[in-house]
Amino acid sequence: MRKSLAGLRLERARAIPLHQQIAQYLRELILGGELSNGSLLAGSRVIASEIGCSRSVVNDALELLCAEGYLEAVDRSGFKVALEPPVCGHQPPSTRSPYRTTPRLRVDQFSNVWKLLLSEDYEINPMSPFSPGAPEIGSFPFDAWARIVRQTWRTPERQLLLAPAPQGVPRLRDAVADFLGSVRGLLCRPEEIVITSGTANSLDLLARMLLNPGDAVWLEEPGFSEARWACSAAGGQLVPVPVDESGLIVSEAIKRAPNARLAIVTPSNQYPLGMMLSLERRLQLLEWAYQQNAWIIEDDYNSEFRQPGNMIASLKSLDKTGRVIYVGTFSKIMFPSLRIGYLVANKVFADIFARGRARIDLHTSTHLQLALANFLRSGLLIRHVRRMRAVYAERHDAVVHEFRHQLADHLDIPTSGIGLHFVAFFTQSLAARISDIEAASRTRAAGVFVQALSQCYLTDPARQGFIVGFGQVQTEAASRLVGTIAACLARH
Ligand SMILES: Cc1ncc(COP(=O)(O)O)c(C=O)c1O
Repeated sequence: MRKSLAGLRLERARAIPLHQQIAQYLRELILGGELSNGSLLAGSRVIASEIGCSRSVVNDALELLCAEGYLEAVDRSGFKVALEPPVCGHQPPSTRSPYRTTPRLRVDQFSNVWKLLLSEDYEINPMSPFSPGAPEIGSFPFDAWARIVRQTWRTPERQLLLAPAPQGVPRLRDAVADFLGSVRGLLCRPEEIVITSGTANSLDLLARMLLNPGDAVWLEEPGFSEARWACSAAGGQLVPVPVDESGLIVSEAIKRAPNARLAIVTPSNQYPLGMMLSLERRLQLLEWAYQQNAWIIEDDYNSEFRQPGNMIASLKSLDKTGRVIYVGTFSKIMFPSLRIGYLVANKVFADIFARGRARIDLHTSTHLQLALANFLRSGLLIRHVRRMRAVYAERHDAVVHEFRHQLADHLDIPTSGIGLHFVAFFTQSLAARISDIEAASRTRAAGVFVQALSQCYLTDPARQGFIVGFGQVQTEAASRLVGTIAACLARH
């Protein structure tokens, strides 16, 4: 009996041409073993009337499949299947092909690294007003940015369109060097800079460059989850190191893993707790790295928002032996989806990094880099950063005020510094009643997402609290939003 195609429903609203939809349907039947080798297909007139299209569309599909080797024309009688479906194991015929349309995939079919990455429950919601680290995007000068992006595209240079730039476009590296000098007080040369696709990308590539599987890595506890994931993916052995009011406790780190290859730290504004790494600890850390030939990654994720008179010198600026790699990002001063960041290291390191990176990641979108270089040169970004310092200071004060006012019985908020978030610790009595994960899930159910502090810990016991972003909280909305959180905690 000739095979019909009556089961096919053509979708005319889709962008895929009708003859391609027919061809794809037949390919799947053949590869899935449902149309066996030698089966004769119904004639094109019959098929066309079954599925409701013109005969020429059906003929186009059948001829395409002949050209691809699935079908063969049979004298005057139409087309027959000309392919034995690939057999996979000894499963029943209906499930034996590996080409079935809905493959059943389970995480255990993937690498241990992937399993590890997916094993952790971790909740964020970058759209939430309280999302830590999310900047205010409403005030960004998009008109000017769009003009610059358009100009960059209108006159693309051949070199930029064709040649990879694993270290980053020179014009952007020049502009970033100037930007770091004027906004961050970090003196560096363009050849010491590599443009990356943000801090997460820098950490991933650096972890792969610096760690062998099993190498110990010091990570702040609590700390930045992306650092943890990058090191896990590179096979590193994660060594959580507690922090106190002076930042990472270096003596404890040395006790736990003296031979670590790498330490990842946030010295200017510990993530997420916000303290600064003391000078004594900085010198201790540098000395350890020098003695051990170990590396330090300095994640300086939001120093740009400090007032100039209050700018803390980077750890990198104290490093005389080239063990510190400074990592920065445009995610906070522009927007996170931009995916542009940078690292600063000595010239030889930057060059070796870029050569390896060229093999696995190539480079960050060149045209965006060029647009960003022009944007930085225009002075508009610096102006935006200055304006946002004042906006964030005001929002910080408004949100902290509301938390202290409405949640004094439940949350402690230590004096917090700069940036886009602060931490509100659960009081003992609240922590005895509810975990931060459970509390966060209650506020989420009430429509307000806040991140639980315990997610940033690698080991128990984790301190309980909320990491509260305020970058996106309009001051007028602070009272209402915090009120929702207060109601959730009170009801419990
Ligand atoms: C500690 C820390 N470093 C860096 C970043 C920025 O990462 P990226 O540049 O990958 O967006 C963030 C973002 O929230 C962060 O919290």
